[in-house]
Amino acid sequence: MLIRRPPHIRPSDITPPDVFATRRRLLAGALSVAAAAAAPAALGAATPSGTPLAARLNAALSTSEAANSWEDVTTYNNYYEFGTDKSDPAENAGRLKTAPWSVAIGGEAEVRGRVALEDLLKPHPLEERVYRLRCVEAWSMVIPWVGVPLAAVLKRFKPTSRARFVAFTTLADPVQMPGQRSAVLDWPYVEGLRIDEAMHPLALLAVGLYGRVLPNQNGAPLRLVVPWKYGFKSIKSIVRIEFSQQMPPTSWNRAAPREYGFYANVNPAVDHPRWSQKTERRIGAGLFAPRQPTLPFNGYATEVAALYRDLDLGRNF
Ligand code: MTE
Repeated sequence: MLIRRPPHIRPSDITPPDVFATRRRLLAGALSVAAAAAAPAALGAATPSGTPLAARLNAALSTSEAANSWEDVTTYNNYYEFGTDKSDPAENAGRLKTAPWSVAIGGEAEVRGRVALEDLLKPHPLEERVYRLRCVEAWSMVIPWVGVPLAAVLKRFKPTSRARFVAFTTLADPVQMPGQRSAVLDWPYVEGLRIDEAMHPLALLAVGLYGRVLPNQNGAPLRLVVPWKYGFKSIKSIVRIEFSQQMPPTSWNRAAPREYGFYANVNPAVDHPRWSQKTERRIGAGLFAPRQPTLPFNGYATEVAALYRDLDLGRNF
C-alpha cells in the first residue's frame, strides 16, 4: 500500500520497517542516527546497505506524490543479473560484494583512470530526491533516492569538446551474478545518454534510498537515475563511465531494437509494439485502483522537453 503522508515529512523520516528495530536499539533516536550517518567520503569503503545517510532534501526537484513503501521499492525489482522475476533481485543480490568498489573513467575526457567510489563521491553533498520511476513495462513507483548530481561528478573529469555521449557499464561477474550465466541479455548491461542529457540537473547518481545506503537489489553501490526516461536507462552497479563521440550501444536496444530505442523518453504517444504506453499501474496502489495516465517525459516535460526540440520523438523513441 502507498504510504500517505503530509508533504512536509521527508520520506526518509519514515522509518523503513526492517530497520525500525535496529534503530530502536540505538541509544537515542535522532541523535544516534545522526551520529551513525555516513557522509559521501565513507561510502564505498565498507558501508553496509541500510546504513543511514546524511542527505538534504532537494524539494525543488522532488515530487510531493506519496512515496512507495520500502517494501515495494526493495522487493519489486528489475535486475536481470539476479534473475528475471521481480522477487529474484531481493532474494539473490544480497551476496554481491559492493566494497571495495571503483569506477573506471575513460574516453573523451582530460582526466581518466580508475577512481575509488569514496573518492568519486567525496566532494559532493548527498541530496534526497523523490522521483517518479516509470518502467517500460507500464508500472510505476515513487522513490526517495539519495545521491549526487551526475553533472557535478562528470565535470570533474573534464570531458573534451568531442564528448557527445556518456556510456555506462554494469559489473560483469557471473560468479556473483547468477543471471549472467544465462543469455537473456548480452552481458555486461550497458546504457548511455547524450551528454546534454547526462548534464541535466535531474540526472542523479544514486547511492541510497529512503535515507539509507542502497540495498543491493536496487543497484548498490552506485546506479543511475534518469526520471524522465523508462526505467531501463537507470543502469545499476556501475563500474565504468566512458565519454564518447559515437552513440554507445545499449543493452535493451541491442536485444530488441524495434521495441527499445536509445532515447527511451517516457512517451504515452508512442506505444510499445506489444502494449500501450498510455497508462500505468502504480505499484502498491491496490488491486482495484484505476490505472493512471502516463505523462510525457514522466511528468518532467517542463524541465527536459527543450533537450529534444530538434528531435522527432516518434522516430527517436
Ligand atoms: N540495470 C542493470 N544492470 N540490470 C537490469 O536488469 N533493469 C532496469 C534498470 N537498471 C536493470 C538495470 C529496469 S528495466 C528498471 S525498471 C530499473 O532498473 C528498476 O530499478 P529498481 O529495481 O531499483 O526499481
